[in-house]
Amino acid sequence: MNHLYYGDNLTIMQEMESASVDLIYLDPPFNSNRSYNAIYKDETGRPLPDQIDAFCDLWTLNEEHERAIRHMPVILREAGLDDETVEFWRLWMNALRKTQPTMLAYLSYMMQRLIVMKRLLRPTGSIYLHCDPTASHYIKVMMDVVFGNKNFRNEIIWAYTGPSGTKSQYPRKHDVVLFYSKGDKWVFNSDNIRIPYKKLSTQKGGGGIGGDMDEKAVAEYVKRGKIPESWWSDISPVGRIKSERLGYATQKPVTLLKRIISASSNEGDTVLDPFCGCATTLEAAHRLKRNWIGIDIAIHAIKRVAAIRLGERCHLKQGKDFAIAGIPHSLEGAKDLWERDKYHFQKWAVEEVDGFVTAKRTADGGIDGRLYFDMPGQRDLQSMILEVKGGKNVSIADFRALHSVLEREEALMAGLITMEPLPDRQKTNFLKLAAQAGDLEMPGSIRHYPKLQILSVPEILEGKRFATPTPMGKSGSLQNKLSYGDDQN
Ligand SMILES: C[S@@+](CC[C@H](N)C(=O)[O-])C[C@H]1O[C@@H](n2cnc3c(N)ncnc32)[C@H](O)[C@@H]1O
Repeated sequence: MNHLYYGDNLTIMQEMESASVDLIYLDPPFNSNRSYNAIYKDETGRPLPDQIDAFCDLWTLNEEHERAIRHMPVILREAGLDDETVEFWRLWMNALRKTQPTMLAYLSYMMQRLIVMKRLLRPTGSIYLHCDPTASHYIKVMMDVVFGNKNFRNEIIWAYTGPSGTKSQYPRKHDVVLFYSKGDKWVFNSDNIRIPYKKLSTQKGGGGIGGDMDEKAVAEYVKRGKIPESWWSDISPVGRIKSERLGYATQKPVTLLKRIISASSNEGDTVLDPFCGCATTLEAAHRLKRNWIGIDIAIHAIKRVAAIRLGERCHLKQGKDFAIAGIPHSLEGAKDLWERDKYHFQKWAVEEVDGFVTAKRTADGGIDGRLYFDMPGQRDLQSMILEVKGGKNVSIADFRALHSVLEREEALMAGLITMEPLPDRQKTNFLKLAAQAGDLEMPGSIRHYPKLQILSVPEILEGKRFATPTPMGKSGSLQNKLSYGDDQN
């Protein structure tokens, strides 16, 4: 069955079987993870004060990265890399430490994942890594390290046009897709991707008959079409394709993915996209009769955009044609997520109640998220602070801490999420404190909401939510933005 996983692709891929995938396409985030922020902005239509830079700190060299960097030589040796290559990696990383710590953090994050991806590929498999010129030169060196430079097949330049405010240099209008095979035999169905003669001769940016083509080549391509060169200028970005646009800033066009999948896999093969975003790869794979696995860390991508794309656009049924995994559906599932990955448990809980995770990646309490809402007469969005306690022991001290955070932070309300419902005595204590905190009155309305509230995971799973003015950004507003045109096969 096709699978869509919610979670960190590293953890999920580590649990996948070796040599089980024929083709990997990845389009990872870089530089402030624009994708997260864009999702958030698009959904609300307004900037969210402390989430705009959410996850930027992912590329700040922190203890987690340092640990990964220290451990990397061991992983590289286990993955079969020779001593010289491992030593090269070590020296390179040390050189970057002072000059480009952000790049070092990014490369170590990517390295951990690429090593696992290599293990997942079948011997005849291929990998396409989509990036932009900000880091493509570094990534290429890293891909050479992991996959071997003898397995480098192409650097594909996907070129497009579009408006640009740049006046001091050439507008940056291309992406880079690095194509590597796993070994010395790989699938490449050149006949599947031939560009018909007519289309090619009208293609923007040249590429028509003439130039260095000899007679035989001319004859072949007037009869059979032509294999696209390593630069592609015939695929429009999604912004130009109204029928595809999902409001997902980093969305790629289905045609791009269809070319890659048609060339580098066969019907019935398995395609993996570990950064699947709004599921472009999954749609292309489905249309080309490939099996697919998608992973994304953003629950919005998984639950809403991807499911809507797969359901409404591809007419796939969850449970029959594909399964969504990693999203807890029971208290046991939630506990399991907490045990496996405390940070992601917090993230899941915050997003489940329509909140947004806060910028810092912590698993130690504090403010884990905010839920935004409009208040009559206020220009800026107002918020409820969210704190998640996944562990067993919730005490009166936690309630007091929540109360004082509410007073300290610029927020009108505070909500605590606990794994289990509170025992009676604790509940009484909490209600006493909530009574002291009082209610949020809505100007011009008789509605009011307790400033301090609590919800347990079983309540959330039953659909219960914090009592607040309508939360901004999640429920509903995205749905309206999804405008699909006709199916395009
Ligand atoms: C550039 S976007 C991919 C866009 C996608 N190609 C499309 O057409 O929609 C990168 C995606 O990677 C996801 N992501 C970032 N870090 C991740 C991780 N560690 N595990 C899984 N997904 C991750 C983000 O949520 C985002 O949706």
